Amino acid sequence: MTSFLAIAVSGCNKPAGEAPNSTGPIKVGQFASLTGKEATFGTSSDEGTTMAIEEINAAGGVLGRKLQLLTEDTQSKPGEPATVVNKLIARDGVVAILGEVASSRSLEAAPICQQSKIPMISPSSTNPKVTEVGDYIFRVCFIDPFQGTVMANFATKTLNAKKVAVFTDAKSDYSKGLAKFFKEKFVANGGTITVELDYNGGDKDFKAQLTAIKAANPDAVFVPGYYTDAALICVQAKQLGLAVPFMGGDGWESEKLVEIGQDAVEGQYFSTHYHPDVGSERSKQFLQNYRRRWKDKTPDALAACAYDSVIVLAEALKRAGTTDGPKVRDALAATKNFPAVTGNITIDEHRDASKAAVILQVKDGKYKYLETVAP
Ligand code: PHE
Repeated sequence: MTSFLAIAVSGCNKPAGEAPNSTGPIKVGQFASLTGKEATFGTSSDEGTTMAIEEINAAGGVLGRKLQLLTEDTQSKPGEPATVVNKLIARDGVVAILGEVASSRSLEAAPICQQSKIPMISPSSTNPKVTEVGDYIFRVCFIDPFQGTVMANFATKTLNAKKVAVFTDAKSDYSKGLAKFFKEKFVANGGTITVELDYNGGDKDFKAQLTAIKAANPDAVFVPGYYTDAALICVQAKQLGLAVPFMGGDGWESEKLVEIGQDAVEGQYFSTHYHPDVGSERSKQFLQNYRRRWKDKTPDALAACAYDSVIVLAEALKRAGTTDGPKVRDALAATKNFPAVTGNITIDEHRDASKAAVILQVKDGKYKYLETVAP
């Protein structure tokens, strides 16, 4: 990491961002997993981001200038975020960075943005550590202490679970954090964690751990991972006859969950940031425009959060009256009650957004809205 920082800081001697009195489009950088294991995260985010930028430009842009989006693919791989964010800042002179979805990848890029005084807004990374990196790092979504509580209460109150197994991706900051916050709340609710096991994101065979989980006889299993692994875990659990409810967090959200998991994910539950059936006028308008823009595709939470990251940035640029990093930072920090697609956004003193979560259930291969949980 230190060597990447060194490149960002000493690779060019001018300060990061654009030259003073620049004209022409305002460059905004985006880093996203457009390919690889979490490709649907990046693809959906990019659709939301692109649409927001197009709408803002069609309405005249910001500060009398158009926004220009520069997108880099992190390939769902560690190491890439640092490389591509350095490029966006040092080579392209972007004034802000949008991304990533996966917390581990946001955590890799955040120190570079912080060091360069280029504001970074993660649309949907939920691990608390992301914004703790520094005062230039923001997010427009809730964090996992809340999400963990939401699913622990759901397990206790709705599923009536007394004993839960937790199955965590040992390579993911998101998974480890969400597992921890879930456990704390579930135990505080009087529940027991019967067994806790790990896998490594990208594994193909989960049968050894699932056999041990089955032997512990839990009422439900919590899998705070990403969709490919979660789907395979549900498939193999079904093959082993482990027929209890499985629950996850926002990392389950992908059309691939159902494609890979088929009937093994039917009936399972997860929490996330957005559902097209609920929400404000703003959210309904977004749904309509998104379907028009992306060939009838229904937006997911990634698209909605990414869209929100752009409109929050554009609004901050307007209030700042400049693209200057420190001033844009201050304007972002002052975001109050801003009507966005995923809810009203107020950036708190930790640079996080406190917002409601929704709980969904897989029903007939679709995501059915069950309930909204306010913070
Ligand atoms: N919250 C997840 C993380 O921090 C990313 C994610 C967000 C995945 C929304 C799906 C939907 O890693």
